[in-house]
Amino acid sequence: MCGIVGYIGKKEVLPILISGLRRLEYRGYDSAGVAISHAGKVKKIKSVGKIDVLAEKVKSVDLVGSVGIAHTRWATHGGVTEENAHPHIGCQDDLVICHNGIIENYRELKENFLKGHTLRSQTDTEVLAHLIEIFYEGDLLKAVQKALAEVRGTYGLVAMHAAEPNKIIAARLGSPLVIGVGENEYYVASDTSPMLAHTKNVVFLDDGEVAEITLESLKIYNVEQKAVDKNIEKIEWDEAQAEKQGFDHFMLKEIFDQPTVIKDAIRGRYSLDEGTAHLGGLNMTDEQMHQVKRVVMLACGTAYYAGLVGKYAFERLAGLPTEADVASEFRYRDPIIDKHTLVFAISQSGETADTLAALREAKRKGAFVRGVVNVVGSTIARETDGGTYIHAGPELAVASSKAYTNMVATLILYALQFGRLNRVSVATGERLLNALLEIPEKMKLVLAQNDKIKSLAEKYKSYKNCIYLGRGINFPVALEGALKLKEISYVHCEAFAGGEMKHGPIALLAPDFPVLAIMTKNQLYEKMRSNVEEILARKAPVIIIATQGDDEVKELSEDVIYIPPTMELLEPLLNTIALQLYAYHMAVILGKDVDRPRNLAKSVTVE
Ligand code: G6P
Repeated sequence: MCGIVGYIGKKEVLPILISGLRRLEYRGYDSAGVAISHAGKVKKIKSVGKIDVLAEKVKSVDLVGSVGIAHTRWATHGGVTEENAHPHIGCQDDLVICHNGIIENYRELKENFLKGHTLRSQTDTEVLAHLIEIFYEGDLLKAVQKALAEVRGTYGLVAMHAAEPNKIIAARLGSPLVIGVGENEYYVASDTSPMLAHTKNVVFLDDGEVAEITLESLKIYNVEQKAVDKNIEKIEWDEAQAEKQGFDHFMLKEIFDQPTVIKDAIRGRYSLDEGTAHLGGLNMTDEQMHQVKRVVMLACGTAYYAGLVGKYAFERLAGLPTEADVASEFRYRDPIIDKHTLVFAISQSGETADTLAALREAKRKGAFVRGVVNVVGSTIARETDGGTYIHAGPELAVASSKAYTNMVATLILYALQFGRLNRVSVATGERLLNALLEIPEKMKLVLAQNDKIKSLAEKYKSYKNCIYLGRGINFPVALEGALKLKEISYVHCEAFAGGEMKHGPIALLAPDFPVLAIMTKNQLYEKMRSNVEEILARKAPVIIIATQGDDEVKELSEDVIYIPPTMELLEPLLNTIALQLYAYHMAVILGKDVDRPRNLAKSVTVE
């Protein structure tokens, strides 16, 4: 939640901060602000609304300088107001901070330290600004270290002081911060996307570390306040991947990215001759793999639905009992985990607080914990004992699309790797891999139906409710499709397993309550067909996702989206794309902000 960006160098800082905030807007977009240090003064501007509003506002203000920090907010503590937007100051306006995270003991800090201080906002962050101000004696690094020693909670923090104009202090505990190292310049941000255009060399701050960034140097200190040497790492993502490239929205661009990026998830990770996958990041010996008796998928949102597909794949290919668990539930139960359990922590951002807490719990209980993560260097990637980057490239639309299909492809490869230890033959493994290699072309055939899907969205745009129905491996697809529709078009949509229809949901059906049924040709085809007939008998309109060549389906409905045939296990990789496009067009037709849906943030780094 919330995005931080900062810059120190020779360039004019304002455009860097504004474009950096635009890159981070997916992290939060209810208010934003910038602060620039220049000629012994710190000036700040804040506004309620998206970055566009701030970008307009700064035009009328004289904001020159080459050192600055900025923030885009997703409110957790205090309403959406200009006072609550960051940067925050103390009593004087010479110290500014931007913060991501939660100061849990802010009440206590206020009582113990802030006597005589006047607070202007309802945020926990402002308490921290005052605390740093109290400890400030001409050395911002020391003041931040002293203040943070009093804090309980999480933070990604950047701070500047007018008296030390060429310095930014950055600190991290629980909320990510990355420092970009350029030629005589440094960037700091919540993730690498704001710096992609400027540098590929980055240093990831670890929890407890504080960085002192000046024009001349970057010094990093650990919790004991000892200087530490950090490696500069190279990021592979490039700037073009983070552009809309002619598409109207990031989401549409990312949906159309799928045939390309899925190849990156598969490439170099399989052997056709051996009919198996080789995911080196698994980091387990054959003996350890044989010790695994159970698999658990931990994730939130779309990543959870990818995990549910992974459950089907592991059960079918590897014959291992597998559960997919919502991370926020797992962490507060008494989950049965032991050293024979393999846990996958699945996350696009690699920063989701619940997934992170759940994986820590699984680690404590002795499980093998592996990550299936998109963002390189993210916390989940670093805290797992191995795992795989899904290589989807930057995903900027809040609603996830290409990360989902790459997660599914990666989990299927893992399931095959385990399956080849026991029940999957070389021939079966080879057949699956060949079918997987055909998926990118087949994805293009689904995308080619964009106009048809758009016309269906047009036809159904006035319905306020909808049910998505699937069975077997298409049940999680229905869940993911329904999530997409509600999160970006705000149409009320629930997904059910076909077999559950008669146990309640069928009562909802009526001519004004459409159903989207996933009825591709697989072992549950006949069962789904019965469901569709029951729906039609209640006079509810039906959209059917069917397999190319299935002409009989036209007897049931005129609204059919055809999908190329593939192996049942791989169907989610194609069927989901049709549902992504349907949700996308519905949102556009209904005039919604597709890339930045209300109330949501892409990266949920607080509980
Ligand atoms: C948020 C996003 C979802 C995402 C979920 C998990 O709710 O809006 O799109 O699926 O978090 O995020 P992760 O980064 O862990 O995949």
